[in-house]
Amino acid sequence: MLSSPIEEIKNRLDILEVVGSYIKLQKAGQNYRARCPFHSEKKPSFFVSPARQIWHCFGCQKGGDIFAFVKEIEGVEFGDALRILAQKAGIELKRQDPKLKTERSRLYEICELACRFFEKQMEESSVGKEAKSYLLARGIKPESLKKWRLGYAPDVWQGLSDFLTTRGYSQEEIQKAGLGLTSEKGSFFDRFRGRIIFPIFDLNSQVVGFGGRVFKSDDPAKYINTPATLLYDKSRILYGLDKAKVEIRKKESCVLVEGYIDAIMCHQAGFENAVATSGTALTSFQLKILKRYSDNLITAFDMDPAGDSATKRGIDLAQAQGFNIRVVLMPEGKDPADIISENPAEWQKRVEDGKNIYQFYFDTTFSRLDAKSSQGKKDIAKIILPILKKIPNKIEQSHWIQELARRLGVKEEVIEEELRKTSVVLPETFQEEEVAPPLSPKSRREMLEERIASLVLKNPVENFRLIGEENLAYFSPKIQNILTGKFVPEDADFVDYLSLKREVEEEEIDCRSEIQTCLREIKTLEIKDKLNEICRELKKAEEEKDSERADSLIQQFNQLSNKLLNL
Ligand code: CTP
Ligand code: MN
Repeated sequence: MLSSPIEEIKNRLDILEVVGSYIKLQKAGQNYRARCPFHSEKKPSFFVSPARQIWHCFGCQKGGDIFAFVKEIEGVEFGDALRILAQKAGIELKRQDPKLKTERSRLYEICELACRFFEKQMEESSVGKEAKSYLLARGIKPESLKKWRLGYAPDVWQGLSDFLTTRGYSQEEIQKAGLGLTSEKGSFFDRFRGRIIFPIFDLNSQVVGFGGRVFKSDDPAKYINTPATLLYDKSRILYGLDKAKVEIRKKESCVLVEGYIDAIMCHQAGFENAVATSGTALTSFQLKILKRYSDNLITAFDMDPAGDSATKRGIDLAQAQGFNIRVVLMPEGKDPADIISENPAEWQKRVEDGKNIYQFYFDTTFSRLDAKSSQGKKDIAKIILPILKKIPNKIEQSHWIQELARRLGVKEEVIEEELRKTSVVLPETFQEEEVAPPLSPKSRREMLEERIASLVLKNPVENFRLIGEENLAYFSPKIQNILTGKFVPEDADFVDYLSLKREVEEEEIDCRSEIQTCLREIKTLEIKDKLNEICRELKKAEEEKDSERADSLIQQFNQLSNKLLNL
């Protein structure tokens, strides 16, 4: 065992595996690159170096090791990142004093224990077994029950909460995990009772919440779900994404279904790129996460082009954010789970036949209305125009304008004219909300110094000669250490960063002339700074009518400007 769990974890986990489990990486020479998950960008400036086991985004300047990455992408503190990675690496962290553990990790434990409790209830209690038979009868295979860790919450007031209390968790914590409630009279009871339980996992397959489907009772609420907790926010989670993310990347598409059972059945039928939206509209946050894996969505839920449903708004948002969307046509009154349990091959065919979303909107609308009558034409245009207006890509938009003109038998210009008059509420896009400003932007001077240092690292002895001892004073102490090869262990990360920076440059460069150019520019900047300083002082001296000082400043000014000219 190495000295610290951190070292041990770094030893066991490869950065490509860790980062690659969240985002799509592409090989670029000896490194890998991707579009940065931490800020919005078109050209990928996010790099991962397997050799150095670091990542860095040259756009937003974030970077570091696997711990820094997990902290950033999961939005957690170091302690949680450590736990997540320890679990991935299969390392048991030493048990800490329970009081010292972060609140979050206590909640993770509660959710995990609750999940095991529900699983056991499904195996062992008599109603639990009935629930299991029900699920099997609906076509869910035993291995899927295991994989998705389905369970049963007994129909008693204090089943889970008693169990958790004996395990040392307080009612307050159980409530914070979303698993218990306090009645007005002050008694504490389980939130999930008499229900089939679908645990909800985060991207690392840790249980963070639950969905409970009614079973054998006439409770009017078909589903109840974990409310917002420290771990669970329904607008940020997609059911099944932890199990689907690798496949989404591989297949370059994500199948979106509505229900828990639909997602499970899809996976079972070989569509392991399916996730469930859990009956709510897609949020900007969920889309942002999906975008890390693929730009292509295949939806399999009810969508009415004329309606203004939450579902449709979610899809509008996805379109505005540049997703390509195809729609799986569903027979009236059936959902994916029904189709798959009857005939998986039919589902496969339907997914393959998925229509372009605009084609789908056109076909649905034209099949319902009469494109021959003038009223019918007007009604069709009323539904389709707002949809066309929202197409972000102009070429694609123009294609569908032509199509509408053709199918209505009117001139394109007419459609364009009407389109101008159509007003729509454009859905928000990523740009407005999520763009991270660059971390304290580096000054030009810093960039130049770093550039030289990275070139020197490439070939230390020879390239240092190009700078010359006499010019060392132009550099910050940290860079001086690197130039002279005297860097201290604390600089190791910085050296790694500089080396990666040089590696990711695409073109071959002439070190000699590049160093000289940068050095000249550093000197220029330094002299210009000094000249500015002199100007300020000169102004002061003139205000104070200190002519002697003014003269000396002018002299200095002239000397320096000459030096600038001769650089
Ligand atoms: N849902 C929810 N709360 C509700 C109803 C539905 O959270 N009150 C979510 C669940 O995630 C559910 C999905 O919306 O899985 C789809 O709902 P629905 O089609 O009604 O249920 P199914 O999961 O398809 O259940 P079943 O097939 O057993 O009818
Ligand atoms: Mn269903």
